[in-house]
Amino acid sequence: MATIPVAIAGAPYDVRIEAGLLAKAGTHCRPFLRKDTVAIVTDEHVAARWRETVAASFAAEGIESRWLVLPAGESTKSWEQLARVIDWLLAQEVERKDNIVALGGGVIGDLTGFAAAIVKRGCGFIQIPTTLLAQVDSSVGGKTAINTPAGKNLVGAFHQPVLVLADPLSLDTLPARDVRAGYAEVVKYGLIDDAPFFEWCEANGHHLLAGEADAREYAIARSVAAKARIVAADEKETTGVRALLNLGHTFGHALEAETGFSDRLLHGEGVALGMALAARFSARQGLMNGQDAERVAAHIGAVGLPASLAALNLSCDGRRLADHMLHDKKMDAGTLPFLLLRGIGETFLAKDVDLGDVAAFLDDELARR
Ligand code: GLY
Repeated sequence: MATIPVAIAGAPYDVRIEAGLLAKAGTHCRPFLRKDTVAIVTDEHVAARWRETVAASFAAEGIESRWLVLPAGESTKSWEQLARVIDWLLAQEVERKDNIVALGGGVIGDLTGFAAAIVKRGCGFIQIPTTLLAQVDSSVGGKTAINTPAGKNLVGAFHQPVLVLADPLSLDTLPARDVRAGYAEVVKYGLIDDAPFFEWCEANGHHLLAGEADAREYAIARSVAAKARIVAADEKETTGVRALLNLGHTFGHALEAETGFSDRLLHGEGVALGMALAARFSARQGLMNGQDAERVAAHIGAVGLPASLAALNLSCDGRRLADHMLHDKKMDAGTLPFLLLRGIGETFLAKDVDLGDVAAFLDDELARR
């Protein structure tokens, strides 16, 4: 088992990574539970596959698990479902020193974490992420949120879990497209500040996507270690260090907005394409060597993720995509901080990017076939 400490000041915790961990969830959670019951929030897909296994692991520790099973999908990150979770937790008589469990992907983790942040002014929670994206990114670092009609993740809180349990076996039953989309966030860590890890991805990414256990465990552990290091340095995204985790997200967000936040482009796919665009834009600005930028796009394309705008068949122009960026929640006093690259493993925060240059670049990218 790999154990990665997340050294957040005042709220440190471990991320444990091991194939088969879901079947031992009760043993790992036991020291964090004060009662012989535990409240678990999940979704219907995860419950169908894992409820029996996880419930049995708690029962083996003498703990009765109580379940709230929500609809699967992004629309569950809503005010309505938040109210439902809160009312249910109150009915379970959850107390501030209790730890509730979020079992599922990013939607369940974000929603349950936010409910934990506000119920009785804050109780504890344990993340048991079951998607690759949640295991390498959203379950670690304490960002919790729901969506509102005004946009995604606009209402939330920083609230750190007390423990994260990541079981790579949970990826075996997911659609290949979802695992591939989560892989974009793995590649991201290589591009941020770990060129040898990007090289590892080039050599081994296809093993991970084919389901090879060692490759999965290694990639999750190395990604979590990177995320732990970054969030420990800048928990609340105030110094610019945590902002590095947004590589690919500004372009990706614009593309998700243009495609209606739909199945046409999953979040991770938007991040993948966004990273390829960030690399090419960096090369065009003379910041990064063009061959390295094409190397980034080549790896993204090689694993079946979108690496060029042609893949999306958009009928808009670059200005329209750039306009979506003006509504990005990372806007800061009228400027949009952009994550650009000086090389593979050398991401930096650029605050002086001209959106007119971005629009002209996107026009040229849209014209590429
Ligand atoms: N997913 C980006 C962050 O946790 O900051």
